[in-house]
Amino acid sequence: MSTFISKLPKVELHLHIEGTLEPEMVFALAKRNGITLNYPDETALRAAYQFSDLLSFLRLYYQGMEVLLTEQDFFDMTLAYLERVHQEQVRHVEIAFDPQPHRLRGVPMADIIEGIARALAQAKAQWGLSSRLIMAFLRDLSQESAFATLQEAKPFRHHLYGIGLDSAEVGNPPSKFAKVFAAAREQGYRLVAHAGEEGPPRYIEEALDLLQVERIDHGIAAIHDEALMARLAKARTPLTICPLSNLKLNVVDSMAEHPLLQLLHAGLCVTVNSDDPAYFGGYMNANFLALQQDLGASKHDLLQLALNGVEASWLSNEEKQQLHQEIISYGEQHGVYLKT
Ligand code: HPA
Ligand code: ZN
Repeated sequence: MSTFISKLPKVELHLHIEGTLEPEMVFALAKRNGITLNYPDETALRAAYQFSDLLSFLRLYYQGMEVLLTEQDFFDMTLAYLERVHQEQVRHVEIAFDPQPHRLRGVPMADIIEGIARALAQAKAQWGLSSRLIMAFLRDLSQESAFATLQEAKPFRHHLYGIGLDSAEVGNPPSKFAKVFAAAREQGYRLVAHAGEEGPPRYIEEALDLLQVERIDHGIAAIHDEALMARLAKARTPLTICPLSNLKLNVVDSMAEHPLLQLLHAGLCVTVNSDDPAYFGGYMNANFLALQQDLGASKHDLLQLALNGVEASWLSNEEKQQLHQEIISYGEQHGVYLKT
């Protein structure tokens, strides 16, 4: 592992907490909850993590999260992730959870949100690792279900910062959720949505124009639309890109063909994230390393990507300035100077 990457202060903005369930934890939680899994052991489960596309991944992702039943389960899962990224010099995270599949299994909303929030509070107290929590709607479910979820989350509003949109993209355009995103905006939530992962550039425009999101999760389909790229660059609309995820789900054929650097060099506010690290073969540092080793990203690029993460985050201006300066100084110590 390159020391430059492992010690670089970072921010993670696109992470599904259920996507951090390592096979070892899936088995431990299954045992604790008396659940029998379809795989004989951790090695067999990990061996099943071979995906052809987003849908083939989502099948295993929803299956894996079935072991989550109690507040303690959500706490343990979240703390394990936070401990891991703390070791990787991640200073701030904005993470999403998917309440609907848990609610369909009968887990109370209180246990889901309070378990995650308790771990976030502990990480802040113990390591100074700050966070924002995003509640995501599944786009393959109905808008009515999203409305019911928004309503159910009301008693826990103080733990929540943003609303997101994820799951099976193609055939479930952002326009399907325009009303519920408007309602969430009324309630003061910040807004994000997955768009342009497997879906077309048009979905990115819909997310911006109809949902009025301020960041796009993935968004790499923008590379196919010059006008859209110019719009995203001009507005500095952040794209939370996940290189290893895109590779594992065959959104790109090889890391060498990933459009991340083209988007970055065209002036877009591109950031690096891990999406579902237990399934895609790596956390933050592994994603940065893949860019350096297989895409040819320079230290200058990596530093700019880390700074973009700060810019794209929902930290206060004061917190942003502090972390920005820390990253600039880090670069200077390593002989990397950015024109700012
Ligand atoms: N895309 C869409 N939905 C998801 C993903 C993803 O990469 N991970 C978890 N839910
Ligand atoms: Zn995602």
